Amino acid sequence: MVIFGATGDLTKRLLVPAIYNLAQAKLLPENFAIIGVAHRPYSSEEFAEKLKEDVKATAAHPIDDEKWDQAFKGRIFYTSGDLDDSATYATLATQLKQIDEELGTAGNHLFYLATPPTLFEPIVGHLAEADLTDESDSPANWKRVVIEKPFGHDLDSARALNHVITSKLDESQIYRIDHYLGKQTVQNIMVFRFANGIFEPIWNRRYIDNVQITVAETVGVEHRGPYYDRAGALRDMLPNHLFQILALIAMESPYSFEADAVRDEKVKLLKALRPIRAEEVFANAVRGQYDSGVVDGEPVVAYRKAPRVPPDSNTETFVALKFAIDNWRWADVPFYLRTGKSLARHVSEVVIQFKQAPFLPFRETAIQHLRPNSLVLRIQPDEGIALTFEAKRPGIEVKTDTVEMDFCYAEYFQQTPFIGYETLLFDCMRGDQTLFQRADFVEAGWNAITPILDVWSNLPARTFPNYTAGSWGPKEADELLAKDGRKWRNAPEPKQHQS
Ligand code: BG6
Repeated sequence: MVIFGATGDLTKRLLVPAIYNLAQAKLLPENFAIIGVAHRPYSSEEFAEKLKEDVKATAAHPIDDEKWDQAFKGRIFYTSGDLDDSATYATLATQLKQIDEELGTAGNHLFYLATPPTLFEPIVGHLAEADLTDESDSPANWKRVVIEKPFGHDLDSARALNHVITSKLDESQIYRIDHYLGKQTVQNIMVFRFANGIFEPIWNRRYIDNVQITVAETVGVEHRGPYYDRAGALRDMLPNHLFQILALIAMESPYSFEADAVRDEKVKLLKALRPIRAEEVFANAVRGQYDSGVVDGEPVVAYRKAPRVPPDSNTETFVALKFAIDNWRWADVPFYLRTGKSLARHVSEVVIQFKQAPFLPFRETAIQHLRPNSLVLRIQPDEGIALTFEAKRPGIEVKTDTVEMDFCYAEYFQQTPFIGYETLLFDCMRGDQTLFQRADFVEAGWNAITPILDVWSNLPARTFPNYTAGSWGPKEADELLAKDGRKWRNAPEPKQHQS
């Protein structure tokens, strides 16, 4: 595995810890080796030592020295050079050849682009030019390229990037990563829907009133000002993470779990999103930016005062949207999506709100006191699934209460979930593209949000900030649902499950 951008944050925080976990689970090939490529001048030994220290300091799970050495001693290499200089790729080619011969790595090469997006095109170009991605010489060996997000900045740039990389690589060699697809609970949406007989018959407009997808974060912009201020919440989270969840929740059943069968259905769903016309943007899209406040008991400075953020920034750190899906299954069912930073809780979940019971035979219970059934798919943290329903309270009168059937992943399976990158890296190595974004999905995603971006970019500066850090976002987000007679479910504190 060749990691471009090997001295960066992603490599030490997520990629290498995930490789370590794969090694512990005995899921790596015996002759696995890593080559880091970056600008700084290290020898392979220095890089290997530094990587180990960095990973130990940042990884979410503890790293054991002995296990690390078993997995990686003599298997971590480094090429130093400018990532946009063909000389670097000549050195890399020599090094790869040498390692293939000495360690018997069999010539399968995974190139991981953990770099700023401006380098995606040049790296793919140089790899092709140095003949490093050509599979035709030895068809038994594969050469694959993993591309991180952001994949483009808007529809035109995503199209242009797709155009360049597909002119150098076959689509079967391209793995556009979305780390949300590595999350087990995101993958479980498909299992939940398509491995159970009882949900599919009610998974449609006859029984479902609305669907809410929330990806709320308590973290603010952190140290990512220069990237985030250019992107904003809509670009950062919608065309990738939230649309992946939306597609899995709303798509038709694929005829098989093969990569393209699943990806075809996801793209069909995105294409069925009703385009939001320019004049409808105000009614369907809300944005916000956080002011100072308190999150998890800690004071938080306003976004505009965060490091490396312009003090007059108009970038949104929160977005709430209402989408319609134009097909028979979902006609008239609103899909409400929201995401933001510095919010009240760190929680990603999907809420399926069912319709109210049509008639109530119980005299004492007024229908307005009943809460319709809802199914909550908790993606993180406290991963699980809960179904709420009405139950009779103890006593002589027929009074009801809303109760819950709750499945908690950690409690049931007694396992800590992986970081998520493990599954994705493993799938790259075995050539399964199901959990990766195809070119058409990326473009359909950008296409759906382009009208909103266009309208927003042409507006004069907004009155930002407009929500307090530690709240659930601007009041306009509540109004978006209130005008339809609905309310967001704001996740409560996680329950203490028994282990
Ligand atoms: C990234 C975004 O893709 O996803 C970040 O760029 C965001 O802004 C992150 O914080 C959220 O991922 P997770 O796994 O922490 O929910």
